[in-house]
Amino acid sequence: MRLDRFLCESTGLTRSVAKKALHRGDVTVDGIVVKKSDLQINDQEVRLEGRLLSAPSARYLLLHKPAGYISATQDENYPCVLRLLPPELCRGLQCAGRLDVDTTGLLLLTDDGQWSHRLRSPKKACNKVYQVDLSEPLASDVSQRFAEGVMLHGEDKATLPATLETITPTRVLLTIQEGKYHQVKRMFAAVGNHVESLHRLQIGDIRLDDNLEPGQWRHLTEEEIASI
Ligand code: URA
Repeated sequence: MRLDRFLCESTGLTRSVAKKALHRGDVTVDGIVVKKSDLQINDQEVRLEGRLLSAPSARYLLLHKPAGYISATQDENYPCVLRLLPPELCRGLQCAGRLDVDTTGLLLLTDDGQWSHRLRSPKKACNKVYQVDLSEPLASDVSQRFAEGVMLHGEDKATLPATLETITPTRVLLTIQEGKYHQVKRMFAAVGNHVESLHRLQIGDIRLDDNLEPGQWRHLTEEEIASI
């Protein structure tokens, strides 16, 4: 990692403040004053005004995704969710599991590829809970059909067992273990219904906070990070 990025990420300083500190000679690398912002830092000792800096740690963020944003780092048609985060946090961040552009709710982002992989791994079977609004009242056999698994169009294996909780005839909570493309919409299409709106509430033990408005975010807690 470049020295200027190391400084920003280990202290929270902005790029321009970090550069000024470098120009002033406030930064030492292995005891030597360094002013070159592009010096590569691996495991050297970096100090700012004599204070030893710890290597920046991985970032884990929880975003309340609003509708109209895409869970990708760039797109030609829609604004990306990264626009909702402070630019200094965005470098290297990836969405850990996507939501469709019209889906709202819990989205996790991290620069820790292994953590993201664990979260998405079928072996880990992280449950995802969605609140689903349907165009038609739920038919009485759907809960049983989802528990047994349904065949989705274009797939050769049935979905893994999923559970349904009815809130009203057209609003349900669905818990699934997988994350196939458009899975929830395709599951309801497979039983002759249609998803009007979709909102993710939970992944594993990580829940969307009630006090986070659409577009707001927070860091994950140590406990939440360790839960994946
Ligand atoms: N299933 C869907 O169909 N869409 C999502 O955004 C998430 C799960």
